[in-house]
Amino acid sequence: MKILVTGGAGFIGSNFLQLLVPRHPEHEFINVDKLTYAANLENLREVASLPNYRLEQVDIADGPAVDALFERHAPELVVHFAAESHVDRSILGPAEFVRTNIEGTFQLLEACRKHWKTQAGLFHHVSTDEVYGSLGATGLFTEETRYDPSSPYSASKASSDHLVRAYARTYGLRTRVTNCSNNYGPYQFPEKLIPLMILNCLERKPLPVYGKGENIRDWLYVGDHCEAIWQVIEAGKDGQTYNIGGHNEVKNLDVVHLLCSIVAEETGTPEAELRALIKFVQDRPGHDLRYAIDASKIQRELGWTPRETFDTGLRKTVRWYIQSADWVRQVRSGDYRKWLERNYGTRTSA
Ligand code: NAD
Ligand code: TYD
Repeated sequence: MKILVTGGAGFIGSNFLQLLVPRHPEHEFINVDKLTYAANLENLREVASLPNYRLEQVDIADGPAVDALFERHAPELVVHFAAESHVDRSILGPAEFVRTNIEGTFQLLEACRKHWKTQAGLFHHVSTDEVYGSLGATGLFTEETRYDPSSPYSASKASSDHLVRAYARTYGLRTRVTNCSNNYGPYQFPEKLIPLMILNCLERKPLPVYGKGENIRDWLYVGDHCEAIWQVIEAGKDGQTYNIGGHNEVKNLDVVHLLCSIVAEETGTPEAELRALIKFVQDRPGHDLRYAIDASKIQRELGWTPRETFDTGLRKTVRWYIQSADWVRQVRSGDYRKWLERNYGTRTSA
């Protein structure tokens, strides 16, 4: 089978390709990526030499380029990861989020509609639990929870989910949607909470916690997310949505404390020295309080369960960042330094 994987050079997409390209030599994987700041071809060094992998540098919002891609490869499956993915960036500049996440998804759906006249192809849309908005102290997001996005990022992902479902209902396109909770693991760009805190611990830089650190996220190891997506592709039902999460709700401040403790153990640094780096900074506008996923549908219908616990997954992740100094150096381009200045330079202490 020919599989177009969009955004395959980013965090989750590259973990997905690393897992599946070697495992499925019978399939051809075509990585369609614009190679934005969030992409890194180093992530794909091992799969790049395999005969069933190739890269196409294409912007998914460029309709004619996407159309030409479908002409060249005639894919039977699209796994759509490509997106602008960082909430804080969406607050400081929403335009790219509308362009890539909404317009880009639209162009892909249009290409599927045009090229899959026989309805043979399958469009798997990778989305987020952030489309559901914020939970209070209790309750869980189910597949039936009403959409109520808070940030330009989550609003753009919500729009893309709606477009995917509209193409299924209106044009009979075969689609599946997965909405997953916060991921962490190797190759995550160090603008997101966990890698940022690990690297700042390693470099004895301040650990910027938004507000009081009481917001809750439901963390899942990236490899578990990738396995879940593949199970939905292999055994899920068309037109269905599957929530993916690890029943692992943790307060931000507790995540930071855990990371301080693991980095302390792994590097022989006194934990108190790392905890002293915590700095409470101005909160994110519109900051969702709590995310928590009810993953019982995918567990019940497809038998998926996460393999990693938070402790094993975090330890693997910390070790990976300690061992990947070259990768870290590479992603910290001039653009990354400008981003830190833009996001944190203007945040006063809370
Ligand atoms: P990422 O930012 O690390 O990577 C995004 C990738 O998409 C990059 O390789 C980038 O170059 C590519 N891309 C961006 N704009 C593009 C365009 N116009 N055309 C082609 N390629 C483009 O993101 P991620 O964390 O790997 O997230 C992947 C997907 O998973 C996203 O759709 C995101 O909404 C979803 N998701 C992420 C999380 C999470 O915790 N990171 C959780 C649930 C769902
Ligand atoms: P993030 O990794 O940006 O993911 P998302 O916003 O998609 O959930 O942030 C995770 C949580 O950590 C979120 O509640 C915001 C918080 N946070 C901080 O406290 N400090 C930081 O420097 C960052 C990047 C995030």
